[in-house]
Amino acid sequence: MHSVTTALALLFAALCTAGCSANARQLAAIDTGGSVSSGRAAVARYGCGACHTIPGVAGARGLVGPPLTGIGKRYYIAGELPNTLENLTHWIRHPKSVNEKTLMPELGVTGKDATDIAAFLYSLK
Ligand code: HEC
Repeated sequence: MHSVTTALALLFAALCTAGCSANARQLAAIDTGGSVSSGRAAVARYGCGACHTIPGVAGARGLVGPPLTGIGKRYYIAGELPNTLENLTHWIRHPKSVNEKTLMPELGVTGKDATDIAAFLYSLK
């Protein structure tokens, strides 16, 4: 699993020119240690799709928050946090501690679920 990710990262790095640093960044972020399929299931279970449009999750067409498509290519989370694995899982678990006025609720997401959700979100193109 990890060696496949590494091989892919090397392949993309070899094909990459200066213009695709965002792709390299996304690939670097993919090795989260979480499970993409568990993350997809968790997103459905927590009801993230009530507020977000999320490809691959049935009924996730919410328009309250930004679409989560291509989140791995974005530089900032919620306009404030640099997009790292730690910051993404922190935001998913405790958005109010980042920005007390955000509309995104504290949903009681566990640490494991947040890691799986991050793996899933970073897999979205
Ligand atoms: C009640 C609506 C609501 C629910 C439910 C919700 N969110 Fe959000 N979410 C938001 C809003 C609004 C923002 C924009 C936050 C801001 O900028 O303050 C946001 C922002 C985000 C961001 C940052 C997006 C970006 O482009 O920077 C991520 C990632 C995210 N949410 C993931 C999740 C996940 C995962 C869940 C489920 C565990 C979830 N959200 C549930 C409303 C919601």
